[in-house]
Amino acid sequence: MDSLHQKKDITILAIESSCDDTGAAIISNGKMCSNVVATQAVHEQYGGVVPELASRAHQQHIIPVVDAAIKKSGKAKSDISAVAFTQGPGLLGSLMVGASFAKSLALGFNVPLIGVNHLNAHVLAHFIDNDSCDFPYLCLLVSGGHTQIVKVNDAQTFEILGSTRDDAAGEAFDKTAKMLGLPYPGGPVLDKLAQSGNPQAFKFPDSRVDKLDFSFSGLKTAVLYFIRDKSEIDPSFVEQNLNDICASIQETIVSYLMRKLKKAVKETGIKEIAISGGVSANSGLRAAVTDEAKKQRWTLHLPALEYCTDNAAMIAQAAHFQFINNDFATQETVPYARNH
Ligand code: KG4
Ligand code: ZN
Repeated sequence: MDSLHQKKDITILAIESSCDDTGAAIISNGKMCSNVVATQAVHEQYGGVVPELASRAHQQHIIPVVDAAIKKSGKAKSDISAVAFTQGPGLLGSLMVGASFAKSLALGFNVPLIGVNHLNAHVLAHFIDNDSCDFPYLCLLVSGGHTQIVKVNDAQTFEILGSTRDDAAGEAFDKTAKMLGLPYPGGPVLDKLAQSGNPQAFKFPDSRVDKLDFSFSGLKTAVLYFIRDKSEIDPSFVEQNLNDICASIQETIVSYLMRKLKKAVKETGIKEIAISGGVSANSGLRAAVTDEAKKQRWTLHLPALEYCTDNAAMIAQAAHFQFINNDFATQETVPYARNH
């Protein structure tokens, strides 16, 4: 596109709308200028994300969020040299809102379009305002939709060494939290309660799946039966032991994740380690990986809390790399719900 070559600065407007957060960010020559996110409270009353309501909320939020991101960045619309959007994976209706909006903007501004993979963006979030990650590095990507160990060879090459066979780590947190009567999303609430509980109080099994893959469905069932059996004997059991139950569930999930991560380090010999995704905000996981890094002399990259959960800054960062590599999308590009 002509305008691509007319602007010497690389200033990208990025839009994230894969699930229930509407985000927009501006990155200019690799420096993040603004990062705005609007969360959707509408899902709380349903105990989970309702896809149709998420699409509608994106429609409501997208213009104010994009507007705010441009204003906060100090850049003019005419400075924008590309528009990026999350292409997938995610909820199709939600992705469609961001994709259509980004396409229209790119057309209106006469600039190229960049389609970004949401998971790659989580993994590249470590480069935001910081270029200290050396390639290749291993990234434990733990979010509400995915759990993977990724070998990042460069900013464009990702090898998935292991992934979940059923639920994601974030779902394990959210679903067990829901069983305990905690509000949605349960992960951060359970984390907070766990901080004043005894992680060794109760034992839950973790799944024995091969290699570097994960499974969390067994834990979900174990917690369900545990609550049912204990509550039959004492209906106030959960209430009386809430902090200890939360701490024990968190301990099970975290030690399982750590076991797989250590196995990946052993198998690859790579000691440049990162964690990312919503669950990388978990205090137990951050403490465990920090401890292990000290013991094993890993170089550890923990994302800032604002870049753990879904945000457009990570989409902007990934788009910046794609721009440099001439990896643009066409107006015919469509979103995808599943990773490919
Ligand atoms: O990355 P993210 O915002 O969205 C997806 O791409 O899925 O991750 C959201 C997930 C939710 O399951 C949420 O409960 C979990 O991240 N999460 C946490 C914490 N903060 C967010 N889980 C455990 N502890 C936390 N502190
Ligand atoms: Zn995400």
